[in-house]
Amino acid sequence: MIEVGSLDDFPPRTVTVVPAAGVEVGIVRWDGDDVYALRNVCPHALGPVCAGRLGPKIVAPRGDPMGLDVDESCPVIACAWHGWEFDVRTGQAVWPDGRMRVKTYPARVVRGRVVVALDRTDVDPGPAVEP
Ligand code: FES
Repeated sequence: MIEVGSLDDFPPRTVTVVPAAGVEVGIVRWDGDDVYALRNVCPHALGPVCAGRLGPKIVAPRGDPMGLDVDESCPVIACAWHGWEFDVRTGQAVWPDGRMRVKTYPARVVRGRVVVALDRTDVDPGPAVEP
């Protein structure tokens, strides 16, 4: 687990890109202590997905296919380059047959600090050192 800052460093409903072991990680704080972490690389064309717009998922209400509503429980980020949208909680693209996903990492708040679990494969091992 890597500590990336105090919960107070991440205002509600914002995304903040932080360096974490050589990887750019977008920390999304949604409501309360809900925090999520995703790699700042879009699966479409490798753009900075976390530089895009963050907001609740737009949905069509049942029985009203012409209407629009929002799902406040589902944060969605739209990539800064071409606007593809991803569910921040899972990284999955929001269109129904979307198989693309942004890489996500487990994140949580521990004693007021935000911590993220990066994969070993994503951690920059630093310069190679001869034995
Ligand atoms: S690079 Fe993200 S939508 Fe194209």
